[in-house]
Amino acid sequence: MKKIKRIGVLTGGGDCPGLNAVIRAVVNTAIRNYGIEVYGIKDGYSGLINKEITKLELKDVSGILPRGGTILGTSNRDNPFKYKTINSKGEKKYKDVSAKVIKTIEYNEIDVLITIGGDGTQAIANKLFEKCSIPVIGVPKTIDNDLNGTDVTFGFDTALSIATSSIDRLHSTAESHHRIMAIEVMGRYAGWIALESGLAGGGDVILIPEIPFKMEKIAKKIYDRKKRGKRFSLIVVAEGAKPEGGDIIFSRKVDDPNDPIRLGGISNYVGNKIEDITGIETRYTILGHVQRGGSPTAFDRILATRFGYHAVEAAVKGKFGYMVGIRGQDIKTTLIKEAIEVPRRIKPQSDLVKTAMSVGTSFGI
Ligand code: F6P
Repeated sequence: MKKIKRIGVLTGGGDCPGLNAVIRAVVNTAIRNYGIEVYGIKDGYSGLINKEITKLELKDVSGILPRGGTILGTSNRDNPFKYKTINSKGEKKYKDVSAKVIKTIEYNEIDVLITIGGDGTQAIANKLFEKCSIPVIGVPKTIDNDLNGTDVTFGFDTALSIATSSIDRLHSTAESHHRIMAIEVMGRYAGWIALESGLAGGGDVILIPEIPFKMEKIAKKIYDRKKRGKRFSLIVVAEGAKPEGGDIIFSRKVDDPNDPIRLGGISNYVGNKIEDITGIETRYTILGHVQRGGSPTAFDRILATRFGYHAVEAAVKGKFGYMVGIRGQDIKTTLIKEAIEVPRRIKPQSDLVKTAMSVGTSFGI
């Protein structure tokens, strides 16, 4: 097996708290344990396409553990297999520029590429591995928690705690004004943030993409509460939730095959309908990117550090095409191909859903 001398590391897709903790762990483990050099690639795959790459020393990653975002920058647009180019007539075209990626990797003598990212980033990593024979190791990140091959992704716990404390804050104002508050959380087409923050924050109604809802069932829950003297209610809505037989609501469609839909607005839709049905004054809050910003929780810092350490271990052992992940208490590796085959979604019959129902939470069904 070839001795690893240089590792390249990139962060791709939407950012999330804990990315810097992984980078720090990769750099420290590689340099301290193996004398391997680490090269940081700027702005996800864009840095490989546009040759933006710099050597990372221990000093470069000192003090970044509690910092949100990523010191490397990120991008969820720059897919080397579908890269946007604009010709002299101003026409947009999407081209395969993976040859540029290979060139940058060869020129910089990168032996292994560590790709820190969600499903999109890992799908590209796997394609680079399978089609272009680039040795890759994946590290799963996303606040959405929708990747298989790991029980949990780092970033999720931080988003969850931000969403939960926001629900707590809305609780007191909802109660004072005798209002219904609909709070919309992220998660794309998975309801993990909504389900778990709804459980932790005591949401009266939780709406998730995996369980299409009926408006009249939400109204019934609110009437039931009113009968018991509860004049306020909290509805936690996942941005990808949709009514039974209906479609998802999105704020904008953009001309980008890599990420054409910007979700957002379901809480407004639900809030208005519920106000019309019940006559109870309703407000909505879209939490948005606040969920992705700031310092990671202790849980995410530890998980990210473990992932970074094990990614280097996997690189040294030649486990290319694999992604690290946590199973129970242990860090294990899974083929990236298997991890991205199907997204990790909530099973409507799962224990978490049953638990929420048992404490009186309505899923609008
Ligand atoms: O995948 C992470 C995520 O924050 C989703 O929860 C959300 O739908 C999306 O990214 C937002 O993407 P952007 O940062 O491009 O607006």
